[in-house]
Amino acid sequence: MIRIAATADLHSGDRPRKDVAEACAEAAARADVLLLCGDLTRRGKASQARTLLAELEEVKVPIVAVLGNHDFHSSEQEAIAAALRAAGISVLDGDFATHTLDGARVSICGTKGFCGGFGIRALPDFGEPSMRRLHAEMIEEGVKLEAALRSANGDIKVAVTHYAPISATLQGEDQQIWPFLGSSRLAEAIDAGGADIAFHGHSHYGVDRGTTPGGVPVHNVSMPVIKGCCRLFELEG
Ligand SMILES: [Fe+2]
Ligand SMILES: [Fe+2]
Repeated sequence: MIRIAATADLHSGDRPRKDVAEACAEAAARADVLLLCGDLTRRGKASQARTLLAELEEVKVPIVAVLGNHDFHSSEQEAIAAALRAAGISVLDGDFATHTLDGARVSICGTKGFCGGFGIRALPDFGEPSMRRLHAEMIEEGVKLEAALRSANGDIKVAVTHYAPISATLQGEDQQIWPFLGSSRLAEAIDAGGADIAFHGHSHYGVDRGTTPGGVPVHNVSMPVIKGCCRLFELEG
């Protein structure tokens, strides 16, 4: 049995939070790996990434992360990723990390993802250059995730994004903002790339589970949704 602890939207600030540190350490102690599905910081400051590292100091299992939109806010995303990588955390951006967990090779494939909406209502490749750039980034994030999943060498493939790949986990959010919360291009990647399970964050007011059109379970592990710091998942090896 593979045990995954997952969370998103930790939004670390300027001082370490003792309760978050204790909860993460406790969850990780019962897991084989810890997934961080973006929005690691509050305002995207490298100093806040160091706060996060302090909060994760007692986590002894491998940590795999993607960045979220907040982590880009101060244009310090490279410094944030570098600080995390220097501490041994895998920060994924269209690539994967494979770990042997309880005897099974598990590939965690990740990218931040992007907005753009879902299905036939998704943003089209049309109109002003600015709109077409948004469309291009939405497509590109899907392409990156699919490429990571296709090239992953594990027996089990886990997809990790910040943005939501399906709208089912957005139930509870104002429907007017759904297009800003995710993109179905990510779900297409999850299905085409053969993921076994997917995790995301970003939707603080959504619900915790849904499935892709291809039947892959999707879990929204945003902290306000899971009502705690981490949620534990068990997968058959
Ligand atoms: Fe967030
Ligand atoms: Fe976010």
